[in-house]
Amino acid sequence: MKPRTRMLVPAACALVFAGLVLARAQAGGSHYFPPVADPVVKEECGSCHLAFAPSMLPARSWERMMATLGEHFGDDATVEPAVAARIAKYLVDNAGDAGGRRYGEKLLRGVPGTAAPLRITELPAWVREHRKVPDWEWRHKDVRTRANCAACHPDAERGYYYDE
Ligand code: HEC
Ligand code: HEC
Repeated sequence: MKPRTRMLVPAACALVFAGLVLARAQAGGSHYFPPVADPVVKEECGSCHLAFAPSMLPARSWERMMATLGEHFGDDATVEPAVAARIAKYLVDNAGDAGGRRYGEKLLRGVPGTAAPLRITELPAWVREHRKVPDWEWRHKDVRTRANCAACHPDAERGYYYDE
């Protein structure tokens, strides 16, 4: 199903959807990424955008990101050192090549072992999964940026990125 249609799915359908999604998540696959469970990480990293799932990037990416929060994609996302340490530990522990390996493995395929990408949306597997999304959809006023996962994946907050 195309994302636009998805956004318009009525509530009743969404329930049926949720059932399907759950079934698929239990079967395993590349569409479930456990959402951030730590309340501090959720608050500090979920105020400007969705709190991205730690399993979507390797540990070295999170380390690099946490060391450069002063220049975070044009924003200052600095937090107090003790808070930063807590966030860094959570993200690194659950990274796609650490605790979150079983979820992130497929998404991280093709990332060189020495690279520390800061964008999920630039990972080779992410780009491949989205290659059929037409240009106008990225530019749609309800989407605007590739990082706006929830515009097209309505259950992104709960970790589901299903593809129907
Ligand atoms: C002050 C606002 C702000 C805060 C706070 C913030 N970010 Fe961001 N973040 C941004 C902006 C702006 C972008 C670029 C979004 C875009 O490209 O549309 C971004 C992008 C990202 C991306 C890359 C998204 C992609 O394109 O794949 C990741 C990962 C990310 N942030 C993680 C974090 C983490 C982890 C924290 C908490 C430590 C955090 N952010 C806190 C503003 C913020
Ligand atoms: C403009 C809409 C749009 C946005 C924004 C978007 N996606 Fe997607 N995504 C899609 C579509 C459509 C597919 C299915 C691609 C296909 O089957 O050709 C998809 C597929 C996926 C898949 C693969 C699912 C599976 O079952 O294998 C993942 C994972 C995913 N997206 C994650 C993300 C993340 C993370 C973000 C934000 C950083 C994001 N997407 C932003 C439209 C979008």
